[in-house]
Amino acid sequence: MVDKARKIFNSSGEHRVLVTRELPGARWLEIFEEAGCRVEICSSQEVMSGDEIRSEVGDHCDGVIGQLTEAWNEEIFSALKIAGVKVYSNYAVGYNNVDVEAATSCGIPVGNTPGVLTETTAEMAVTLTLAAARRVIEADKFTRGGKYRGWQPSMFLGKLLYRKTVGVIGAGRIGSVYGKIMVEGFKMDLIYHDIRRNETLEKYISDYSRFLTEHGEKPVACDYAGTADEVLARADVVSLHPVLDNTTFHLINAARLDLMKEDAVLINVSRGQVVDEAALVAHCRDHPTFRTGLDVYEAEPDMAPGLAGLDNAVIVPHIGSATGWTREGMAVLAACNVAAILRGYPAWRKTQNIDPFLGDDPPRAAPGIVNADELSIPYYRGD
Ligand code: DGY
Repeated sequence: MVDKARKIFNSSGEHRVLVTRELPGARWLEIFEEAGCRVEICSSQEVMSGDEIRSEVGDHCDGVIGQLTEAWNEEIFSALKIAGVKVYSNYAVGYNNVDVEAATSCGIPVGNTPGVLTETTAEMAVTLTLAAARRVIEADKFTRGGKYRGWQPSMFLGKLLYRKTVGVIGAGRIGSVYGKIMVEGFKMDLIYHDIRRNETLEKYISDYSRFLTEHGEKPVACDYAGTADEVLARADVVSLHPVLDNTTFHLINAARLDLMKEDAVLINVSRGQVVDEAALVAHCRDHPTFRTGLDVYEAEPDMAPGLAGLDNAVIVPHIGSATGWTREGMAVLAACNVAAILRGYPAWRKTQNIDPFLGDDPPRAAPGIVNADELSIPYYRGD
């Protein structure tokens, strides 16, 4: 059970906002204060159940910020509606834990925190790629374990990335940045799959390729693949960045792992359920030169049996967005979502740059409302 300990901020504020977990930074609280909100922050470290959330919301509440670890379902949104909640924001860019359809039918706008996680999460995907390809964790354990007896020609041989092929499945914001880093950093060719072509990314790589040839270097290629299978078969490294939905659940299964090169590297910083984790464990066991780097798990925080014992898996605890700047930025965007809707402000377009919200004078808009169209919330046209 979650204990009832709560921190209260700006107690005389007229709008009651509930935040299910403490958030980093101070700016997000100033945003609420400026909007006349009383903020109640649950200080438990446990994941809140639906019953606990409903009890914390109580009879009256105006806005809520919740966590990606909580299931915001139909039952909760019905309770939120009865309590008078006018807006919910996830403290995350992903919102597969939120039943947006249920929120929409209750008339509740749902916010997310796009833009501030992009580079941070892409950097984690790169970190996992390098750690897996060059066996950094295995080598670290070995060295700490006092096993290092001197340089050896064949010790911890890993995989060279330079001029190989990197595959990206899901070339949205994070996938594109990851692809660009790998192309620019290691002169890799890029092959990507998404439900739609990313022409901006293709042009960027083609301009970069021209730059390389102008400087006397070999060009790089960027190919769009019509299927995920093609990416898996051709790439030396594959990084997964799709949105989790019915079409991407267990996108990586035993059959698709078998399409991959024997010594490929598979990275996942998206959502755990995109990968059939038991199949991945079996594949890693059967293919010792195959490597994986995971930030997310199918039944987080649990892991599939055997995963933690694999030398060819690098595993970290969902820290893709874990930098101070990003986590504080996420708090600011979530607060802006809630405060803006309570103030009757319009929604920021999904294609617009989020940076102005991180300054001292944020636009009078909600930065990330995912069901703005469905709820006919007008879009921002300028202050
Ligand atoms: C998100 O915001 O969706 C991320 O998974 C948090 O790291």
